[in-house]
Formats: sequence, structure tokens, C-alpha cells
Amino acid sequence: MSTIAEEINKRRTFAIISHPDAGKTTLTEKFLLYGGAINLAGSVKGKATARHAVSDWMEIEKERGISVTSSVLQFNYDGYCINILDTPGHQDFSEDTYRTLMAADSAVMVIDASKGVEAQTRKLFKVCGMRGIPIFTFINKMDRDANDTFELLDEIEKELGIATCPVNWPIGSGKRFKGVYDRHENHVLTYSDTQKGTKEGETTVISMDDEAGLLENIGDEALSTLREEIELLDGASAEFDLNEVRNGKLTPVFFGSALTNFGVEIFLQNFLKMATTPLPRVSQGEPVDPVGNGFSAFVFKIQANMNKAHRDRVAFMRICSGRFDAGEEVKHVQGGKVMRLSQPQQIMADERKILNEAYAGDIIGVFDPGIFSIGDTVCMPKNNICYEGIPTFAPEHFARVRQMDTMKRKQFIKGVNQIAQEGAIQIFQEFNTGMEEIIVGVVGVLQFDVLKYRLENEYNVEIKLEPLPYEHIRWIENKDEVDLMKLTGTSDMKKIQDLKGNPLLLFINQWSIGMTLDRNKGLVLSEFGRA
Ligand code: G4P
Repeated sequence: MSTIAEEINKRRTFAIISHPDAGKTTLTEKFLLYGGAINLAGSVKGKATARHAVSDWMEIEKERGISVTSSVLQFNYDGYCINILDTPGHQDFSEDTYRTLMAADSAVMVIDASKGVEAQTRKLFKVCGMRGIPIFTFINKMDRDANDTFELLDEIEKELGIATCPVNWPIGSGKRFKGVYDRHENHVLTYSDTQKGTKEGETTVISMDDEAGLLENIGDEALSTLREEIELLDGASAEFDLNEVRNGKLTPVFFGSALTNFGVEIFLQNFLKMATTPLPRVSQGEPVDPVGNGFSAFVFKIQANMNKAHRDRVAFMRICSGRFDAGEEVKHVQGGKVMRLSQPQQIMADERKILNEAYAGDIIGVFDPGIFSIGDTVCMPKNNICYEGIPTFAPEHFARVRQMDTMKRKQFIKGVNQIAQEGAIQIFQEFNTGMEEIIVGVVGVLQFDVLKYRLENEYNVEIKLEPLPYEHIRWIENKDEVDLMKLTGTSDMKKIQDLKGNPLLLFINQWSIGMTLDRNKGLVLSEFGRA
């Protein structure tokens, strides 16, 4: 029997951030392969089915009794218990994607070697950067023609503002991809085409002192380029410093090919060594030690309609300290109530596995009778813990909501408020007028459809959405020092307020934000709202 401390300390909880198509799903699948969760043959289904990997895992999960869902994947590897948090990408990118990052202790950033830093990576990185969590970079698709390695690193440093430290270095790319050089071990690992990972690779390890072996395996030309690049690299790149990594100031960089399963296990092994155990979260200004305290958790996501037949809500919690025991009573701090968490579960999509215990670092989903809000804390009744809330992230799409049948005002208000409480949308009002007209902001446009659909189906209210041209929203950090009536913005600026009466500004472009800041000295604007 392991102790609570041992259970917590073997946990590593991370999110994978990337732009759609960079290879997040493929990489995750390979991680599971190493975790023994899926076997080689079952892991790779070729091109057409790659996107269905998540639902395939559900089947595999049933067979093997492991925990695999579209939201959190848990598996064991090399004595570690690993939680991978899925950050929804593609068309369902939403504020939830950002919020999920609040539950992770580190992030793996997957970059397509031929594309470099892309829009969605930039956005997700910003949220990780705000928290200062460690970020590990996997530059993927080296089996295809890649951008120049130095340029890729330069781009990460300039665009994202984080220093890079390559742990290994690619030898060529595409058809001339020969493998990677491991800087720490001073040896080369050769690449062999696994035919999209359908057969075992045959990687040879060759010391940099074994000239004949290197010439035979990677050839004269690749070897001399490698030697030149190593020399350049040793002179140019940042020194490896684990503290800097853990503070999110330096990202260790790895190169590989998820599809052919090359460089993935080295990445996983190094990552696990460098990533932190569950990080302490801050309650009332003080960090709460995950090991030295009883159970505590915070809600980071609320999902409605998890089960179509029951029309229920599930609150997802990140356990921050101690051990969760399903039989014990806990305190919902914001609601001031002592209760048992109902139907605690680890499975978070169609399949659900009722949990009896879980530990700091884990994510649990509990049945929510409509009492939880995002950012809420639950803890042992005797403890006095209240975690800092989760910020509100800037929506990028806005629409005015018109209600078709004014007789249904009540249901309308109830519906929009509930959906906003779940965090799927943000609602705003015209500045200085009440709730008459509602402006809705969303992070991903799909949420507009979700709102319309849910209001119609769950609240029997028909609405019309009129898109607004704004793309940027800013909270006014020093609202008490600013006279809003006198604020001189650009002609395209719009003043609005949230439901608590906090003023916000909407802009069509970045230029207007800069202009408004220039014209109003002392004005402080923020991209994140305080919950
Ligand atoms: P995502 O979750 O980040 O969106 O990416 P996903 O893993 O689904 O990968 C996107 C596509 O890139 C997939 O192709 C996948 O097979 C391919 N891919 C992933 N890793 C690698 C790699 O290391 N090398 C190469 N060459 N390809 C890789 P697809 O959607 O099945 O087909 P298609 O996009 O090529 O049509």
C-alpha cells in the first residue's frame, strides 16, 4: 500500500497545447502506447481514422479497464501516474480550452516543424505564460521537410517570449531525416521508417566518438552538418537550468515524429523527469501544500447535458491537495454547505467510472445539481481553504441577442444566465442601460450555435443573433481611477458592462486599443477578467 504522499508525488498532470493538425492526437496516442494502455497494432489506424482516435480509445478502455476519455486520460508509465488533460481544439475551441489549462501543472507544446508557431498555439501559450507553468516543446513531423532548426527556435523565442534549450537536435528532415543527436548523452539515435508506426522501429544508438558508425548510418554530409550545427548551438543556446524550466522561463525542446513514433519515448522520459509533482495552489494569498493537507479541489469546468437521457450537469474539479474519499463529507466553500460529492467519476464522456478515491493532481467529475460555479472550492469541512478564482478569458466574437417572443423574457434570462454560469458564453449589457439588450461574447464561434440550440431546446426560447464586428475586449484594471464618461477612445470603440457592472471596452482591431491607451494616459487595460 502506498501512502498518500507517494500517490501524490508520482502524479504528473499536463495539457497538450497545439494548433489543429500539428499532431496532438497522434502524440497522445503514442504516449498511451508507452503507458501500455494500447498496443502497437491498435494504436495506429492510418489516415482516415486518425481523428476518431478518441472514440476508439473508449472501446479500448472498455476492453482493458483503463481510464481514457476525451477530457482526461490517465495512465501509468515507469512508476508515474500521468494525467493528460485534453484541450479541445478544432472547431470546438472555446473558453473551456483555456480553463483546462488552469488545471494543469505543465504543458506540452506540439509544433509542426514545417509551420512553426501558429495562431492557436500562440493563444494557448499566453495562458500558460500567465501562470508561469513549465512548457515542454515537441517539434513534430520531422519525417517531412521542416523549417530550418535555428529559425524554428528563434521563432519560438521571439513570438512567444520564452528561451529555448534543445535537448536533442534533428539530423536533416523529410526524406533526409536521419535521427536526432542527444546533447546530454552525446550520442545519435537513428531514425527508421516505421511505416506510420505500424511496425517496430529499429533505432541504433551511436556515440559521437564512433566515427565509422556515424558515417555508416547517417553519412558524410549529414555528419559534417551536424558537427557544424552542434558547434553553433553550443555557442548560441541557453544553458539548461531546471529552475528556469519549472518557472516557465525556458522550454526544453525535442524533435521527433509522432506518426512514425520516433523521439516520443525519449521525450516522455525526459519530460517526466523534469515536470513537477502537483503544484501547490494559492488560497487567500498562501500556497496550499498538496501533500500536507486534507482534500481540497477547485471547479474548472462545468459541462451540461453530459448524458442526454438525464439532462444533467457535471462539475469538473482539479484536486489540489490530499486524498479524495467518496464516502467523506466535504464543504462547498462558496455555497457554505457540507455535503457528499455525488457520483464522483473519472470517466468524463459517454462512459463513466465511479471513483472511490483520487489524489492531488487528479481530475474528478461530480454530479452538479446547479450549485457549482467555475472557480469554486471544495475542501474538508474543518479546513479553511478558498482558492483564487479562474480568470475570465477574452472572447473574440460578439453578437447582440434578440429574443423573438418577448413574453418569454423570464425563461430567456434564466437560460442565458445558466449557460453563462457554466462558462460557455459571457454576457454583457449596454453601458448604462439594463438587461434589455444582451451582448454575448464567445471564444469560439461554435458556442453561438450551442447557445441558440440550447435556448430553444432546454428553455423553449427562440433567439436571433446579430453578429457584431468587435474582436477584442479589454477589462479596465483601474476602473476607480478612470472617469469613463470622459474616456476618449477611437470611433470604433464601444463601452459595455458585465453583469456585475464592471466596465469593459470593445474594439475592432489592435490598433484602436493602442490608440485608446495613448489618448488616455494612466488607463490600464487587461485581457483577463477577474472572477
Ligand atoms: P491534431 O490532434 O493536433 O489536430 O493532429 P493529429 O494528431 O490529428 O494529426 C494531424 C495530421 O498530421 C494527421 O494526418 C496525422 O497523421 C499527421 N501527423 C501527425 N504527426 C505526424 C508526423 O510526425 N509526421 C507526419 N508525416 N504526419 C503526422 P491525417 O489527418 O490522418 O491526414 P492528412 O492531414 O495528412 O490528410
